[in-house]
Amino acid sequence: MKTLLQINSGMQGQESHSSMLANRMTNSLLAQMPGAKHIKRDLSEEEIPHLNLGVFQSFSDPDSAVTPTQKAALALSNTLVAELKQSSILIIGAPMYNFMIPSVLKSWIDHVIRAQETFRYGENGPVGLLENKKTYIVIAQGGKFLGTEADIETEYLKMALGLIGITDIEFIYAQGLAMGPQGAEVGLKEA
Ligand SMILES: Cc1cc2nc3c(=O)[nH]c(=O)nc-3n(C[C@H](O)[C@H](O)[C@H](O)COP(=O)(O)O)c2cc1C
Repeated sequence: MKTLLQINSGMQGQESHSSMLANRMTNSLLAQMPGAKHIKRDLSEEEIPHLNLGVFQSFSDPDSAVTPTQKAALALSNTLVAELKQSSILIIGAPMYNFMIPSVLKSWIDHVIRAQETFRYGENGPVGLLENKKTYIVIAQGGKFLGTEADIETEYLKMALGLIGITDIEFIYAQGLAMGPQGAEVGLKEA
């Protein structure tokens, strides 16, 4: 059975353009995948805590998680990694907030990039351990940054996901959403 993992990270709930577009894309893919499992994480509703030293250490030494908080944080990371490993399609809704992805999405990434779990250190550098994951990322932004040096969001996502072996990524851009009603309409239509 195929699994589609969807990660929404827009903070504007039902009004989030990145989430709306990611939902739409998910629904259309699921319609073509009868029986597929759909795992959805809305990071605006269920925040992933910032990575801290204790949690990071527990990634390589699970016994070091002793307090209930540490144990819960390690368990959450294990769950997020398991969800990612079992998925064959990944859809991410990623708004641009202050020139970057939302910090909640960064936290999710910090919890799934794990040595020996999702990448390993090889003789020539890190080797991604996740394979065959078709990935779609919807980027929503108020301005128009695609193809400019200010588009660090795209490069960051390629680098971070590439590290763990997710390289087959299609980006969908909804741009100009803060450039008046007409600009937003055009941006959404193009996306
Ligand atoms: C806190 C915040 C920061 C933003 N920063 C940027 C930015 O740096 N560049 C930009 O083009 N748009 C920026 N915007 C506009 C959003 O990218 C735009 O509203 C987009 O639709 C957000 O995605 P969402 O609708 O999924 O939340 C920002 C919006 C918010 C709320």
